[in-house]
Amino acid sequence: MIPRIYIPGDSGALALGAEKVAKAVRAELAERGIEAKIVRNGSRGAYFLEPMVEVATANGRIAYGPVKPSDVKSLFDCGFLTGGHHKRWLGAPDKIPFLARQTRLTFARCGVTDPLSLDHYKAHGGLNGLQNAVAMTPADIVKQVTESGLRGRGGAGFPTGIKWKTVLDTSAERKYIVCNADEGDSGTFADRMIMEGDPFVLIEGMAIAGIATGATKGFIYIRSEYPHAVAVMQKAVEIARKAGVLGVNVLGSANSFDMEVRIGAGAYVCGEETALLDSLEGKRGQVRAKPPLPAHKGLFGKPTVINNVISLASVPVIMDKGAAFYKDFGMGRSRGTIPIQIAGNVKYPGLYEAAFGMTLGEIVDDIGGGTATGRPVKAVQVGGPLGAYFPRALFDTPFDYEAFAAKDGLIGHAGIVVFDDSADMLKQARFAMEFCAIESCGKCTPCRIGSTRGVEVLDRLAQNIEPEKQIALVTDLCNTMKFGSLCALGGFTPYPVMSALNHFPDDFRPTPVAEAAE
Ligand SMILES: Cc1cc2nc3c(=O)[nH]c(=O)nc-3n(C[C@H](O)[C@H](O)[C@H](O)COP(=O)(O)O)c2cc1C
Ligand code: SF4
Repeated sequence: MIPRIYIPGDSGALALGAEKVAKAVRAELAERGIEAKIVRNGSRGAYFLEPMVEVATANGRIAYGPVKPSDVKSLFDCGFLTGGHHKRWLGAPDKIPFLARQTRLTFARCGVTDPLSLDHYKAHGGLNGLQNAVAMTPADIVKQVTESGLRGRGGAGFPTGIKWKTVLDTSAERKYIVCNADEGDSGTFADRMIMEGDPFVLIEGMAIAGIATGATKGFIYIRSEYPHAVAVMQKAVEIARKAGVLGVNVLGSANSFDMEVRIGAGAYVCGEETALLDSLEGKRGQVRAKPPLPAHKGLFGKPTVINNVISLASVPVIMDKGAAFYKDFGMGRSRGTIPIQIAGNVKYPGLYEAAFGMTLGEIVDDIGGGTATGRPVKAVQVGGPLGAYFPRALFDTPFDYEAFAAKDGLIGHAGIVVFDDSADMLKQARFAMEFCAIESCGKCTPCRIGSTRGVEVLDRLAQNIEPEKQIALVTDLCNTMKFGSLCALGGFTPYPVMSALNHFPDDFRPTPVAEAAE
């Protein structure tokens, strides 16, 4: 059998030099006259080890990383094709602590399989969920998803089964499934990783959603900054269509479902579901007032399920192994697993899928290993640019929707960004206001005008002009934005601002100029 070498083609690995490594491996194979198959797999998500090259040996896969092009010659000299020892040797990938401690349900195949091989997908449990779904009634599929406790992973945590039931119960001659792959939150990359590393799981999840609700057409709205994900998804859709996974008779059944990939418009607000629908319809992405809900009147005025990539990609395992299996993981009303994305100033950045319930401290200190700079952790922003900053004092908060809400925070898309003690939280608060001002769709006044005024107030505070007055003003302004904005962009910007102010008050009282000069 010819050797198999796995070199990730994932964007994160490419950014760390995977293409150069692949080129060096190809050149070395040619020079040594060795025939081998190079598989461009996805990443397993341990980005501190990327590019992580794996070889399939008689004793299973052996990983090496992070591999530099200059390592390649010596890897061959050490017999890496049969798992030989080398300074980059990591052993069996599933024994690497960062990976071994995870509970991989949604990401079970990511980094393991060839992303564009449907046979590989099937060999690793792919399509079992869809196979079960085509034999069930739509109501029973919806019931299974509802009973699993799955909640939307895009940010709001809305129960997926209830959303699907609303669409199922709304009669119309045409319904749609829209996958939100706009992934605009800072420090998040789960959607990208799964689209590049296991695209068929998303296709399978969307097809199940279609059958469950009576929708026959799907769209995946992928952010324009993800060209690799777009290319992989487009190829995967073609392959799935040719294989009868999509089309007029899904897996030979009487159900029809097909889909298209669409490229996003490049605005953060286009990730908001109604702005996304406007953008998909070819308009400027602007938030729509609700009601009507997209489930009643969504894309082109038709009932529409709009779900995040991870919500949809979590459905196949639920339909394969059952609602009880999935629900068994997690805590409280947060059931199943969540792919936590650890980023920012952190020693071990990457994607860590685990059951809900780990504390923030465990995630940052044990899994993330603290800061990359080695300085103390000052704050962690959880849930993207609209998420609150958590100080170390709140590190006992379990990763759970309700527990985070109780601490005036949110889980969002489960991205966490770590900051060390050199971070200036007044600057971070200003950044949140400025981000809102730049990204505001302009539809409502608290967000459009409030965010610009917010920047000005925080600038005056930085200059130490009547600080107490500015603090009162920004607090009042945040209240207005929180309760008066039409969508969460304006409504949640107060979270990073007020958490920074409340947890790090010293940063908001800059040293008076005269005192600083002494
Ligand atoms: C400003 C803004 C940006 C958003 N960006 C995204 C995004 O990039 N991806 C996403 O899935 N949801 C995003 N959301 C949440 C969506 O509006 C919506 O709740 C989600 O797509 C529903 O899917 P889910 O139930 O599977 O989470 C955003 C919301 C707001 C207010
Ligand atoms: S809160 Fe901001 S982004 Fe949302 S609708 Fe209002 S202006 Fe648009």
